[in-house]
Amino acid sequence: MTALTDPLAEGAVQAVLAAGKLLTDPTAVQSIRSKGETDYVTNVDVAVQAFLRERLAALAPDVQFMAEERDNSALDLTRPCWILDPVDGTTNLIHQFQHSAISLALAEGGQIIFGVVYNPYTEECFAACRGGGAFRNGVSIQVSAVSRLADSLLSTGTVPGRRDLADTAFRQMRALYDRCQDVRRTGCASLELCDVACGRLEGYVELVLQPWDYAAGMLIVAEAGGQVTALGGAPLSLAAGGPLLASNGRLRGALQTILKE
Ligand code: IPD
Ligand code: CA
Ligand code: CA
Repeated sequence: MTALTDPLAEGAVQAVLAAGKLLTDPTAVQSIRSKGETDYVTNVDVAVQAFLRERLAALAPDVQFMAEERDNSALDLTRPCWILDPVDGTTNLIHQFQHSAISLALAEGGQIIFGVVYNPYTEECFAACRGGGAFRNGVSIQVSAVSRLADSLLSTGTVPGRRDLADTAFRQMRALYDRCQDVRRTGCASLELCDVACGRLEGYVELVLQPWDYAAGMLIVAEAGGQVTALGGAPLSLAAGGPLLASNGRLRGALQTILKE
């Protein structure tokens, strides 16, 4: 299904596909807890994380486990580490918006060597191993060939957990909107990265994301021929979050110029 040749990667994909069933049941969300301003965790986030922690430990007992709904302070990122967002798009899940994903990556020596992002609503599974290309349900994917901003479709975030950044986020959205065909705001960072990877979007910008939001998607975009960096072009950290610019590569310079305004 994924066209991955590494048995560990294939095992991880099978675990993620199995976990997808925990999201799609319309009665799945039973409890919602607020972690901060407009930042939520549900019983589904917790259940997916627990399920995958157990399955991944059985597959590779020595690999560390970073995940959104746990304390990650004791991790040593020079050693192998899974990086999991059990539900990316929790607000979408709470509203049954049917646009959320499980995002899982494997980091080794400080770089991502495998990533999978699964949308259980559409049953689209995006995956990549470093140096092996990127795939959607086993079929090779590439970023779009669009080279003019005027022909592009872009996506932006609204940094819901940081309302103090809303003015900047909406100013950037407006500046991008003025130069492209249209902008989208879909509420699931990992899927927006995959949309860049498979050519549905030319670019995606968000002011604050965490490593579990982008770890898998950034490899999938890179393996599909695109680029994911901080806004100014610096590499993204796996130890701490920050702003993100993903593009098909051809539009990176133009997008950076607008974001500097
Ligand atoms: C969020 C989503 C959203 C983005 C937020 C993320 P979560 O992840 O990816 O699109 O705007 O910044 O935190 O909280 O649903 O896992
Ligand atoms: Ca997330
Ligand atoms: Ca999450």
